[in-house]
Amino acid sequence: MKGVVLAGGLGTRLNPLTKVTNKHLLPVYNKPMIFYPLETLVRGGVRDVLLVTGGQSAGDFLRLLGNGKSIGLRSLNYAYQEGEGGIAHALGLAEHFVDGKKSVIILGDNIIEEDISSYVDKFRKQESGARILLKKVEDPERFGVAEFNDHTITKIIEKPKNPKSSYAVTGIYIYDGKVFDIVKTLKPSGRGELEITDVNNAYVKAGEMKFDILKGFWTDAGTFDSLLRANNLAKRKVEKKS
Ligand code: G1P
Repeated sequence: MKGVVLAGGLGTRLNPLTKVTNKHLLPVYNKPMIFYPLETLVRGGVRDVLLVTGGQSAGDFLRLLGNGKSIGLRSLNYAYQEGEGGIAHALGLAEHFVDGKKSVIILGDNIIEEDISSYVDKFRKQESGARILLKKVEDPERFGVAEFNDHTITKIIEKPKNPKSSYAVTGIYIYDGKVFDIVKTLKPSGRGELEITDVNNAYVKAGEMKFDILKGFWTDAGTFDSLLRANNLAKRKVEKKS
């Protein structure tokens, strides 16, 4: 299983914090944000990783992470995203690295408490398709939101005004090799980006989308409030351990 961390974008919602650096290099309590998704992959048993980033600070990731050995990776590879094409566009750059295998994709600003290895193992046994991780939240309108019929996802709506459930689609996605064919069929959304929600809906339509619900805390860190929340959760986790 290969791992891909998506850490591009301009982080405009965090301006001016992101004026001279990449969002994923900002501190979250005692580490740069990018450590969290990388460590999530390592804990989940995924140790060959591609980091997709862009912008002017791309070189800082190499300075910070080097070959990834110090955080437990077997190999750390880098890809450069030009422009602001969106999450699914960044994912498209991983096609050669993933090379038709199964892959775990994680957004660079997603901070989770749990070990994802049981979900990754379930997908190892799943013949094909995709698996996403959901989390019950109080502000679903900020995320991709899953709609259900019985225990099946019928649709995912990106940032709905009137969410039909409280289950946010977190930024951890597990896909089979077909994902890159799906990315090639996408058209830019209203915000001019290729949306990961459209990728997920293609699997939903094909009847190939499975899901699990995260138990521990989860947050993104792309706004001032969620970044503050991420810092507090990370601090609590460190204190729990000691
Ligand atoms: C992105 C996805 C959204 C998902 C979220 C998780 O949102 O588009 O579906 O729920 O990440 O962090 P964005 O951060 O681009 O607003």
